[in-house]
Amino acid sequence: QNKEQAALLKLYADSAKLYQHVLLNTEAGESALKYLHQRGLDDDTIKTFGIGFAPPKQLLLDFFQEHQIDYQLLRQSGLFIENQAGELRDRFVNRVLFPIKDASGRVIAFSGRILKKSPDEPKYLNSPETKLFNKRSVLFNFDLARGAIRQHKSVVLFEGFMDVIAAYRAGIQNGVASMGTSLTNEQIYMLERVTDQLYICYDSDMPGQKATDRALKLLNGNSRLQLGVVQMPDGMDPDEYLRSAGAEKFTQVFEDGKQTPTAFEMQYLRRDLNLQNTQDQLTYIAAVLTQLSRLTSNVEQDLYLNQLVQEFGLDKGDLRQQLRSVTGQQT
Ligand code: UTP
Ligand code: MN
Ligand code: MN
Ligand code: MN
Ligand code: MN
Repeated sequence: QNKEQAALLKLYADSAKLYQHVLLNTEAGESALKYLHQRGLDDDTIKTFGIGFAPPKQLLLDFFQEHQIDYQLLRQSGLFIENQAGELRDRFVNRVLFPIKDASGRVIAFSGRILKKSPDEPKYLNSPETKLFNKRSVLFNFDLARGAIRQHKSVVLFEGFMDVIAAYRAGIQNGVASMGTSLTNEQIYMLERVTDQLYICYDSDMPGQKATDRALKLLNGNSRLQLGVVQMPDGMDPDEYLRSAGAEKFTQVFEDGKQTPTAFEMQYLRRDLNLQNTQDQLTYIAAVLTQLSRLTSNVEQDLYLNQLVQEFGLDKGDLRQQLRSVTGQQT
C-alpha cells in the first residue's frame, strides 16, 4: 500500500520534471514559454511553481513505458486516458501544466491550461481524483505559502493559479487558491490550523462576487476565522489587475482596499437594484438589516446604520427599531 503510494509520488515527481524540461529546454516548449513570458512570468517564477508544458505529441506514455513502469500504476495515476481496449494515452497534451502539491510539497496532480481559447475544450483540465488527489482537500500553493501565512498571521484566498502567482511576484506570498470558485469545508479546516485571519480575493467579476458571497456564508457557519474581502477594481481578477496597473497599485489594493464582510455584502446586495426606485430601496434596506442582525458587534451595527441614515435620509431610531424586530424574528 505504502509502496504503491511512494511509486505514484515518484511518477508525479518525474512527470513534473519532464514537463518542465520540455518547457524550458526544448523546441517543443518554445511557444508555451513565450506565452508564459508574455503573461509576466520569468524563469525563476516558472521554476518556483514547477510549471511545465505537455507538448502536442504525447510524451509521458512513451517515457514511462521505456522505463518499464507497471501498467496498473500508470492506470491509477490519472495521468492517462484509457480507451475501451484498456490502452492508455496521455491525458495532458498541448497544455501549460501547473503541478498541484500536497501540504508537504509533493506533486499529487496537475492542472493544464490550453494556450489558445477553444469553445470545445475547458480552459483548465485537471487530474481526476486518485488515491492521492482529493480535490476538495487541496489548496494550490498551501505548501509554499505556509511560512508566509504564519509570518503575516493571515492568508489570502484566490480563485486561480495565475492569481496566486501574480500576487507572489508582487510580494504577497501568503496566497493560496481554491482552484475555482467553490471553497470547501476541508479547505477551511486546513486554513484554520495555520491562521485566524482570512482575506477572500476572488475575481471581481460577477461569478467571483457570487462565489465570495457563498464563501462568506460557508465560513460564517463553519469557522471561527476572522474574515475580510479584497476586490480588484473594474471586474478584474488579481492577475489582470497586476498586469494592467503594476505591482505598486496592486499591493495598495491589499493595504487600503480591505473590506469587512458586511461592507462587501452591502455592495453585493445592490448589484441588481436601482436605488432611485422606492421599491428597490425598501428591498435593499430590509436585506441590509437582515445582514446587520447577524453581527455581534453593536459598534459595527451602528456604523452601517449611520450609512443608511446618510444615504437614504432615514431616522436612525426607526432603523434601530426595525433592526430589533428583524433580530427578534431570528432568535
Ligand atoms: P478563471 O476562469 O477565473 O481562470 O478560473 P483564471 O485563473 O483567471 O485563468 P487565466 O488567467 O485565464 O489563465 C479560476 C480557476 O478556476 C479553475 C482553475 O483553477 C482556475 O485558475 N478552473 C477554471 C478550472 O479548474 N477549470 C476551468 O475550466 C476553469
Ligand atoms: Mn512578506
Ligand atoms: Mn474567475
Ligand atoms: Mn480569473
Ligand atoms: Mn486570470
